[in-house]
This record gives sequence, C-alpha cells and structure tokens, in this order.
Amino acid sequence: MDQILSELYEEHRNMAALLDALERQIAVHDGGGTPDYELLEAIVDYFLEFPDHTHHPKEDLVFAKLRLHDPEAAAEIGDLHTDHVELAGLTREFATGFDRLLEAGALPGGWFDHLAREFIDFLRRHMQMEEQRFLPAAERTLTKADWVEIRADLTLSDIATLIDPERRRLDALRKDILTLSDDGGR
Ligand SMILES: [Fe+2]
Ligand SMILES: [Fe+2]
Repeated sequence: MDQILSELYEEHRNMAALLDALERQIAVHDGGGTPDYELLEAIVDYFLEFPDHTHHPKEDLVFAKLRLHDPEAAAEIGDLHTDHVELAGLTREFATGFDRLLEAGALPGGWFDHLAREFIDFLRRHMQMEEQRFLPAAERTLTKADWVEIRADLTLSDIATLIDPERRRLDALRKDILTLSDDGGR
C-alpha cells in the first residue's frame, strides 16, 4: 500500500478516536452534567483545521486520479469534494453552536446536541464509505506513477507548505485531547 493511503487510513483512526472523545462529552451534556469545555474546545479546533488542511486535499487528489482511470467507480462513490465541503459546513455550524453554548451556558431544545450529532454522524458515515469503497478502489486502480504524481502535486501545492508545521501542531493537539479525554472518561 502506498504511504499516502496508509496516512489516510491512520488519519481516519485518529479522527475516529476524537469523535469517540467528543461523543463522551456530548453524553455528559445530554445527561445534564457539565462537559469538559476545554476538551470540547480543543476537539472543535482540531476538526475546524485538520481535515481541510491535510486530509481532504490528499483525498481530493487521489479521487481525481481515480476518476481519470475509472470514471465508473468514481461515479459510484459520488462527489467526494462536495462531501468535504458539506462536512466543513457542518463543522462550522457545530463550532458556532459550541461558541453559543459557551456564551449562554445552554442552547434551547437540545440544539447543541443536534448540531454535534449531525457532525459526528456525517463524518462517521463519510469515513466508512471511504474505507469501504473509495480507498480500496484507489488501491486497486492507481499505479505507482500515480502515487508519485500525487506526492509531487502535494509537495508543489500551497497547501503542502502548511502541512508539516500544521501537522506537528495538530498531532500534538490530538494527543493532548486523547490524554485529557482518557483521564476524564474513566
Ligand atoms: Fe473524505
Ligand atoms: Fe477521509
């Protein structure tokens, strides 16, 4: 498996762990308790930045190559980029809901839970679809030369200049979240 693909799978595992941590905090909130706001804020920040900075640009390039080689497989998967845009919108709505929650202490009618649920469910479904259909199709179809080209495109893109320092910072943030979450969740 090409390194880009293993990175994508690893990033999914990392995001899934953060979604679990987020879900635990939402359960505390649902149960009438006080969630760990610092932890929630770190999770929101992570999801506002990480997917669009490093994960989606890679997937979009891989998907473009897949569409070139196997338009039928790509059509069955759907429009990955549109999903990413929709996900970014849901993330921003969830982040706004969280800001309001911080300001007001509560949102009427379980609105915050609703926004969190929509975001969590969409991202989980999206990652599941990618792991069942998109990533295996890319692994089957793309050649070694394709992966080299994708790596070169990433290196040349504006986004790539942000990737390394951003990645280190976001990796550190993710580890902090999981440490805090483990301490708080047990
Ligand atoms: Fe994706
Ligand atoms: Fe993904």
